[in-house]
Amino acid sequence: MTTDQKQLIKATVPVLKQSGLLLTTHFYQRVFSINPELKHTFNMGNQQNGRQPAALAMAVLAYAENIEDPSVLLSTLNRIGHKHTSLAVRPEHYDLIGRHLIASIGEVLGDAATPALLDAWTAAYGQLASLMIGIEAGLYAAQVTKPGGWTGWRPFVVRARIEESSEVTALHLYPVDEGLVADHQPGQYLSIRLFLPQLNLLQPRQYSITNEPNGLFYCISVKHETGETTSTNKLISNHLHAVVQEGDRLEVSVPVGVCPVAVNVPKSVPSTQRSGCPMHQVA
Ligand code: HEM
Repeated sequence: MTTDQKQLIKATVPVLKQSGLLLTTHFYQRVFSINPELKHTFNMGNQQNGRQPAALAMAVLAYAENIEDPSVLLSTLNRIGHKHTSLAVRPEHYDLIGRHLIASIGEVLGDAATPALLDAWTAAYGQLASLMIGIEAGLYAAQVTKPGGWTGWRPFVVRARIEESSEVTALHLYPVDEGLVADHQPGQYLSIRLFLPQLNLLQPRQYSITNEPNGLFYCISVKHETGETTSTNKLISNHLHAVVQEGDRLEVSVPVGVCPVAVNVPKSVPSTQRSGCPMHQVA
């Protein structure tokens, strides 16, 4: 990026502070109206409750603020990369998303979006996309070289359903191919993906892994959600809780997640006594 382009990006910081959420909300509406197939990749509940547009707005703002030295954002980008690899985001997605982002900047800013500003954001996005693609390539490579590792979605079968309480059901998930499963670290989570007939969509959701690594299966604990159940997050948990039975299949992605709480816990402390990861509570 040129010095002038970096200046232009820094000059948009006040606009992003004021209207970042407007921009990302417009961006996602644009993405899903032009590329509705991406509704199967995103958790539409996090669109409905505004969490994902807010997360993206914060990430874009942080990037603009640190355009002189984006390396300070590496731990954040690494965390996002874990989430992306858990949802099978691939390099080719970045071009598509970039086109929607630049078009959204033009549509939201109107006359203020000069050709020079759009060029600067195109260059800035390209730089960020390269960083993220690189991080994610490293994560995918590590995932696939682990014993029992894989990338993307792998079919699993529910072999056991254990009612832990009237509200919580534990599911034991085994790979359909009967191969090994990669060991997970304390605090890591996996994504599951299943078809929700109410939405006519495949939908992903993250769950903490609640068993010790054993090479054979993962256990997740699913809470029955009461009250208003139109939110996608609740629909997924309730579908797992009430509909999915032993023998049913769902798709699972490899365990990921960097848990700052668990990182420095001595190995001598049994995992049952370690703090849970606050980022991804059992849902
Ligand atoms: C430079 C470009 C990108 C940035 C800055 C970005 C940023 C983010 C952030 C901040 C999150 C939230 C992370 C979390 O919950 O911990 C996220 C999640 C996600 N991102 Fe990206 N992302 C980018 C590109 C992409 C691309 C190319 C795709 C592919 C379609 C994608 C798909 C997703 C999905 C599916 C989620 C999960 C959202 C959900 O829960 O529904 N992202 N991203």
